[in-house]
Amino acid sequence: MESSESLDQVRARCARADSSASPVGDGITRAPGKWTFGEGLPRVFNRHVRRSIPGYDELHAKCLEHARTLPQAGRLLDLGCSTGTLTQKLRSAYPNAEVVGVDREPGMIEEAYRLDPTGHYVCADLAQFDLGRWDGVFALYVLQFIPEDQRWALLRKIREALLPGGSLLLAEKVREKDPLEEARARAEYHAFKRAQGFSQAEILAKERSLSGVLFPWTVDENLRALASVGFQRIEPLFSSLCFHAWIAWV
Ligand SMILES: C[S@@+](CC[C@H](N)C(=O)[O-])C[C@H]1O[C@@H](n2cnc3c(N)ncnc32)[C@H](O)[C@@H]1O
Repeated sequence: MESSESLDQVRARCARADSSASPVGDGITRAPGKWTFGEGLPRVFNRHVRRSIPGYDELHAKCLEHARTLPQAGRLLDLGCSTGTLTQKLRSAYPNAEVVGVDREPGMIEEAYRLDPTGHYVCADLAQFDLGRWDGVFALYVLQFIPEDQRWALLRKIREALLPGGSLLLAEKVREKDPLEEARARAEYHAFKRAQGFSQAEILAKERSLSGVLFPWTVDENLRALASVGFQRIEPLFSSLCFHAWIAWV
């Protein structure tokens, strides 16, 4: 069939389609490169994150186990706490500890207080936030959203915020250095998401929306950065598909 559209008209139509928001699952729509944790996400986040990150609750259980090795009445900081799921679990497991959750998204902090009214949550950007001193810092799937040049500075700030014997529990989505390995990892992750009930169109729309917003490092890049800012001992804690976690001690 002959098209009556000129090349310029086709280009304009493609550009419009590219910049329009598409469903990414759980009633959320996002445009390419425009991923945000606001705009309706906080209310459905707990469901969305469990369907998006393999081993989400399993890693939280490991965080609680790890917290047992820290001082009983210790100070625990949950960076990028979203709706406060881990913060709340830490508070319940360690009632004598001081536990604080930080997130820059006002809707997430509002939801955290709705679900956990007696919790302690702070709405702040980690780049500007004065961390204070802590026995345990938890940073689950948040540093991956901090641009690379600022991520080093933040890691250094976390290292300096840790009290003697303290540790950072870091979890990140990682990328593979080798393009073939990356393609394999991506296909495996898509299969996981399809098994969680996302359609392929939703999976691709979410991936496009995260482009230029989520900057995964390789495992080696994460380990090198942790060592470079002065962590003395780094041990792998958990991995599921392209999601890895480590404990780094001062
Ligand atoms: C994938 S979620 C983290 C999930 C959470 N740690 C958990 O275990 O449920 C990432 C969170 O990091 C927050 N975030 C991203 N960049 C941030 C920044 N610069 N400062 C503070 N929070 C940030 C987002 O608002 C979002 O709530």
